[in-house]
Amino acid sequence: MAEILTKARARNIFYGGSVFFVVVFIALTAQSHKYIVDTSTAGLPLTEQVALGKAVWERNSCINCHTLHGEGAYFAPEVGNVMTRWGVADDPEGAFEILQGWMESQPSGIEGRRQMPHFELTEEEIRALAEFLRWADHTDTQGWPPNEAG
Ligand code: HEC
Repeated sequence: MAEILTKARARNIFYGGSVFFVVVFIALTAQSHKYIVDTSTAGLPLTEQVALGKAVWERNSCINCHTLHGEGAYFAPEVGNVMTRWGVADDPEGAFEILQGWMESQPSGIEGRRQMPHFELTEEEIRALAEFLRWADHTDTQGWPPNEAG
């Protein structure tokens, strides 16, 4: 006897197929969610101080000279890893002090060396910048950009 696509069979295929793909959709959604949460690149919490540091970074157009994680201008060193290079990536107070010292001593006035302008920033702003740079430093960029020397 030949197979006949009866109305009942067509309906079963329709409902069965719908349920099957809804289940696949839910499973893939759950898998994507888990992947995003598990592979978060953030290494430090996004605090208000970090957000303020980003605002200070933007207001003063630091990116016009610097790169941050490889994005920006190539006049001045990459700063996404500066806290590691300075040895203060895990030391908020040390990061603030060394950054404050750096900001205060610019421009260096050393002949033949690229100069960084002097920025009139408050202590709060420099603390926030230090936290922003530490936050950026702790972000997992899978080694990008590959500059160790700065
Ligand atoms: C006009 C260009 C310019 C701007 C704008 C600028 N910088 Fe710089 N920055 C430089 C130069 C040039 C150096 C390297 C100076 C040197 O090594 O003597 C530097 C160095 C630094 C360093 C040390 C990097 C290292 O690897 O030693 C930090 C940190 C830094 N800048 C932060 C900032 C921040 C934060 C801002 C914004 C508030 C900023 N810079 C804006 C030019 C600039």
